[in-house]
Amino acid sequence: MSKQDPKKLFIKTYGCQMNVYDSERMAEVLGEKGYVSTDTPDDADMILLNTCHIREKAAEKIYSELGRFKGLKAAKPDLKIGVAGCVAQAEGQEIMRRQPMVDLVVGPQSYHRLPQMEEQVAKGRKALDTDFPEEDKFEHMKARPKAQRGPTAFLTVQEGCDKFCAFCVVPYTRGAEVSRPADRILTEARDLVDRGVREITLLGQNVNAYHGAGPTGEVTLADLIWQLNDIDGLQRIRFTTSHPNDMDDALIDAHGTCDKLMPYLHLPVQSGSDRILKAMNRKHTAEEYINLIDRIRGARPDILLSGDFIVGFPGETDQDFEDTMALVEAVKYGQAYSFKYSTRPGTPAAERAQIDPDVANDRLQRLQALLKDQQRDIQNQMVGREVAVLFEKAGRLPGQLIGKSEYLHAVHVHAPADMQGQIARVQITESSSNSLAGTLLQTVAA
Ligand code: SAH
Ligand code: SF4
Ligand code: F3S
Repeated sequence: MSKQDPKKLFIKTYGCQMNVYDSERMAEVLGEKGYVSTDTPDDADMILLNTCHIREKAAEKIYSELGRFKGLKAAKPDLKIGVAGCVAQAEGQEIMRRQPMVDLVVGPQSYHRLPQMEEQVAKGRKALDTDFPEEDKFEHMKARPKAQRGPTAFLTVQEGCDKFCAFCVVPYTRGAEVSRPADRILTEARDLVDRGVREITLLGQNVNAYHGAGPTGEVTLADLIWQLNDIDGLQRIRFTTSHPNDMDDALIDAHGTCDKLMPYLHLPVQSGSDRILKAMNRKHTAEEYINLIDRIRGARPDILLSGDFIVGFPGETDQDFEDTMALVEAVKYGQAYSFKYSTRPGTPAAERAQIDPDVANDRLQRLQALLKDQQRDIQNQMVGREVAVLFEKAGRLPGQLIGKSEYLHAVHVHAPADMQGQIARVQITESSSNSLAGTLLQTVAA
């Protein structure tokens, strides 16, 4: 390798969208150190795993993944291996103990320190940083490069969580709730739009708890959305993930009045049983959640709702589970994620008596069957309707593009390749298992 050859960085991302955003930012910051991205570990000079600790399986997967790099490291002793993300935060030094070939462990709040850490590992030393520093890491990371990019982007506005649901590791791995100042978010958004982005998804572990500093006082998520609404060239705004207790009136209203805010809301409830909601420390009842959904649908009747559910939480009885099924029947979700409760060390629920795994499996199957039916019904109801599709990439078939409707359904359409990045009216003609197909009607102003 000549001196000028760039070093290659391979990042593998697990977990939530926030990790996807962080991985982009880490690649940018390591760009300063001469790294370019590669999409295979085989020719990499550095491999970074950006990890998730939310469930046991996710965390354990990291160790088997690391095991697979042993051969690569043996063949190329200069290869550096790093672990970032929530497993890095939760397990720190333990990772290097279990997998001595790991050179670098960095927690989610320390990514701005990656350049110094890289220098350290280049000298053959180990680097570990799992602090929760005071400064905004994104402010200390290099300005985002000016290269053209795809039509959709994530933008983290808030991180961390103070809610301490009894099952959840996020407050421990991501730290306390912190909101980025509004002007930095707006600058980043304008920059993304200049680079071709048409749709921005605002991210936060509790994105609707956002309360960033603004020029004349505190800015809420609804305020931020209205300010983004004024950016010419930005056509769509989304946000995720929200907590039911932080859905304020202004945010609900925005769903009815802000044209750029898309009619899709991910609003996890976890359980439909008041007893379990209380044991989970969710701080609302099933009825309050259903009333909230009614108010949101009052503002935006066609909104597509998405949720998260946990079955088999410690103490969940058959009746509790039936209450969850009843809540799902009442709400009707267009999209949902459901999980079997996974014991996480250090969380309050880990100390409680656990449910029989077979019972939890049966419940998960029943719940998933119901959610799948609802999702299919709502998708089928799209047939014959006209939607607006933002084309993101080429489809599998020649002459085909794939994009997302307002409701986040994937839509396959025969359309000219140069319509990528544009929004068009599309008539939906077909609904298949995971996507829709439609025909092009006319182009809407790009
Ligand atoms: N901040 C979001 C969710 C973050 S984690 C919220 O409050 O809703 C994403 C999802 O993972 C959660 O909604 C929950 O359904 C699931 N999850 C979190 N901890 C879990 C655990 N210990 N076992 C199983 N699922 C879990
Ligand atoms: Fe976890 Fe609850 Fe915070 Fe969501 S609100 S990140 S589930 S502690
Ligand atoms: Fe996983 Fe951390 Fe996201 S635990 S879900 S990567 S915040």
